[in-house]
Amino acid sequence: MNGPPTKKPVQIKDGNVLPRVKHCIAVASGKGGVGKSTTSVNLALALQKSGARVGIMDVDIYGPSLPLLMGIHQQPQATPEKKILPIEKDGLRLMSLGFFLEENSPVIWRGPMATGMVTQFLKDVLWGELDYLIIDMPPGTGDVALTLTQQAPLAGAVIVTTSNDLSTVDARRGMTMFQKVDVPVIGVVENMSYFTPPELPDKKYYLFGQGGGQRVADALGVDFLGEVPIDPRVVEGGDAGKPIVVDHPESDAAQAFFSLAQEVSNRVEKLAKPSISVLDSNITWEK
Ligand SMILES: Nc1ncnc2c1ncn2[C@@H]1O[C@H](COP(=O)(O)OP(=O)(O)OP(=O)(O)O)[C@@H](O)[C@H]1O
Ligand SMILES: [Mg+2]
Repeated sequence: MNGPPTKKPVQIKDGNVLPRVKHCIAVASGKGGVGKSTTSVNLALALQKSGARVGIMDVDIYGPSLPLLMGIHQQPQATPEKKILPIEKDGLRLMSLGFFLEENSPVIWRGPMATGMVTQFLKDVLWGELDYLIIDMPPGTGDVALTLTQQAPLAGAVIVTTSNDLSTVDARRGMTMFQKVDVPVIGVVENMSYFTPPELPDKKYYLFGQGGGQRVADALGVDFLGEVPIDPRVVEGGDAGKPIVVDHPESDAAQAFFSLAQEVSNRVEKLAKPSISVLDSNITWEK
């Protein structure tokens, strides 16, 4: 599944894709299970709480988890014009492969189906005006990830990692995929960094080793965006459709997501501004 991203014709990004979305941000990781979906949902909610209009598009073909994380038990409706209405929850507009894929269908069938659906999500979902569309990517660099990086007008990507060597290697692979299509990597966030026992609030136990995320960021030459601690309430809330940013906004994990949202929005705003050199090249100086 993670073969080299070659041979496919690179599709020109189409101006009709998500024209009313200001910033499309991919949340990606080299390998599964590092907390990509958790980060997507809590980052989206943190951005929304700061006043932004936010959507989430979950295109993780292996484990679309948005329905579970957001506690959604309904299917999106279509309009007579065959446009799809996103589901609205907690002020977010949501679309997930999980709304359509049968849970137990084998990945070999899901692949081609999912690739088609992703294109539909980009063109036929009535997202409306959004400041941010957060895209929960599948792990690695398979077909769906490639389709998305080629077709979506991505402002940048956030790489999620945990602090161990293996995911360092994988994160690098993910980064290369974005570089190939000129999508800037906004930075690296380290999830499940440390644990603070409730009875020892000043202690931080780095269970997977300390500083892995920072090392990945340094190795890739991108910014390190911060550490999100381990909190059992993330798991409980995830299973119950209650993200920690909503249910325990005062917790360190939620605070880490709020600060991640701030870091991401600062950087994306800067990326969106045309640089001086671009402006310069359009100016004809009068003599
Ligand atoms: N900061 C955290 N503290 C405690 N548990 C966490 C944290 N972040 C994620 N988890 C848990 O780790 C598991 C994996 O997280 P998540 O599903 O977000 O990862 P993922 O990268 O999207 O995985 P997949 O590759 O399967 O899509 C989940 O059970 C989630 O609740
Ligand atoms: Mg996931």
